[in-house]
Amino acid sequence: MVASEAAPFAKTGGLADVVSALPRALARFGHAVDVVIPRYRGITTGERLGHVTVPDVDGPIDVSIDAVEHDGVRTLFVDHPGYYDRPHLYGVGNDDYADNAARFACLARAAIAWGAAAPEPYAVVHAHDWQAGLVPVLLRRGGGVGALRDAAAIFTIHNLAYQGLFDASWLGRLGLDADLVHMSALEYWGRISFLKGGIVFSRFVTTVSPQYAREIQTREFGFGFDGILRSRAHDLVGILNGIDYDHWNPARDPYLSVPYDASRLDGKDAAKRQLLELVGLPAGDDDRCRPLVGLISRMVDQKGFDLLAELADELPRLEASCVLLGTGERRYEDLWRDVAARYPDRIAVRIGFDEALAHRIEAGADLFLMPSRFEPCGLNQMYSLRYGTVPVVRATGGLADTVRDVDAATGEGTGFTFAEASAAALLAALRRALARYRDPAAWRRIQLAGMRQDFSWDASARQYAALYERAYNK
Ligand code: ADP
Ligand code: GLC
Repeated sequence: MVASEAAPFAKTGGLADVVSALPRALARFGHAVDVVIPRYRGITTGERLGHVTVPDVDGPIDVSIDAVEHDGVRTLFVDHPGYYDRPHLYGVGNDDYADNAARFACLARAAIAWGAAAPEPYAVVHAHDWQAGLVPVLLRRGGGVGALRDAAAIFTIHNLAYQGLFDASWLGRLGLDADLVHMSALEYWGRISFLKGGIVFSRFVTTVSPQYAREIQTREFGFGFDGILRSRAHDLVGILNGIDYDHWNPARDPYLSVPYDASRLDGKDAAKRQLLELVGLPAGDDDRCRPLVGLISRMVDQKGFDLLAELADELPRLEASCVLLGTGERRYEDLWRDVAARYPDRIAVRIGFDEALAHRIEAGADLFLMPSRFEPCGLNQMYSLRYGTVPVVRATGGLADTVRDVDAATGEGTGFTFAEASAAALLAALRRALARYRDPAAWRRIQLAGMRQDFSWDASARQYAALYERAYNK
C-alpha cells in the first residue's frame, strides 16, 4: 500500500486513518501488508532496511528505506531528507511546495523499486490518492518486474478535488515517458494529473463510499473527471470506510475520565462538563442542559464552511452552545475566532490540530455538525454515532450512506440530514435536531440507535480483499 499519510506517523485527515486501519484489518485476516509512506520530519521510529536508487530531476538519487512493524503490518519509510524533512507534509498554509511533483514521484519510484527487489512476490499494489498516482503508471511502464511481476494495481480516490495537477514539462524533468502526455494517459487540459494516472492505469479504481462512487460520475461532483470515471464505470467500486473502534470507542477512550457505552451514558455527561470547562464555556447546571454542538474539520468550502459563515450571527443566538476545532483557510479561521470573541458564552473555537480535544468533543458534544458540500466518506459522523453524539449532516457521499434521517412521525433514525447545500437548509436541520433534543426520551432513542451501528473495518476490509483476489486472478 502506498500513500502520503498513515496514522500515527503522519496525518492531516481521514486518509491517514484509513491507511492505518485497513492494513491492520487485512492483517487480522492473515494477509501480509507493507505500507509505504515518506519519512517526514517528526517520524523518529524505524530501522534502516536498505536503500534504492531512483531517477530524479538531476539524475539518479539514493533513497533509504526504513521500517517499523506494528499489529502485523510493516510500515516502510522512504527517507530522502531533501524532499521530506520539512515542517509540513504538502506545503505552507495554502501554498503547496513547488517540487511536489518530484517529491511524490520519488515516493512512487522508491516504492516500486523496493517492491520489485523484495524476496517474496506481491499480489497487489494499492495506491491512495494523487500522491501515489504514479505507482500504477510505473508498474505498467517497466516497474512490473521481480517481485512485482504479477502484481495488480488498485487505486483509491479519497478526494477527487485534489488532482495532483502539474505543468506537463515535469514529465520530461522526471524522466517519465513523453507519450504519457496524452488524453488516454496523464494529460488533463494541457497539464498532467497524477490522479488521472492512478485512475487510468489501475486494474480497479475504488472510492470510499458507494454514494460517492455514483456522484463522481456526474458533472456536479466530478471536478472535470466525471467523463474519465464514467469510462471506467465497470471497474469503479465504492467501499465504505470503516472506523477503528480501538481508537474511537467511548468505552475505552484514554482521553475520557469516565468511560461510557450504550448501557451507561453518565460518562457522557461528565465528558460534557469537562469539555465545557476545558474550552471555557459556562458549565453550571443550567448551562449543561443547553445542547452543545461540536464540529471538527478542515476549515474549507468542501466541509461547508461557506454555508456556516452565513450563519455566523445566527448560531450564537440558537438555544445551544458550539465548540469548533479545526484549521484551514485563513478567512474562516479569522471569522470564527472573531465570532468566539463576540459570543464567549456560546461559541468556543480552537484553531489547530488536536487529537485529544477531538476525542473530547466527540464525547462531550450532544450534536455533531458536518454540512459538507461533498464528502467522499467522512469519518467524524461515524465516530459521533459511536459516541452517542447525534450527527447533523448534509446528505451527500458517505454522509448519506451512514446517517439515517430521523423520521418525524416514528422518531426512528440516527441523525438529521438536509439535502440542499444552503445555509437555510442547514439551519432548518439544526433546528429540527434542537427541537428533538428537548424531548429526552426521543433523544435517547436516537443516541442509542446510533451507538448500535457497526462500521468496524472488518466488513470493508473483506470487500477490499475480495477485490484484490479479482484483480490478481485476472
Ligand atoms: P477529511 O479527511 O476530508 O479531512 P474525514 O472526516 O475523513 O475528513 O477525516 C478527518 C479526520 O481528521 C478525523 O479523524 C478527524 O477527527 C481529524 N481531524 C480533522 N481536523 C482535526 C483537527 N483540527 N484536530 C484533530 N483532528 C482533526
Ligand atoms: C478524504 C475525504 C473524506 C474521507 C477520507 C478518508 O480526506 O475528504 O471524506 O473520509 O478521505 O477516505
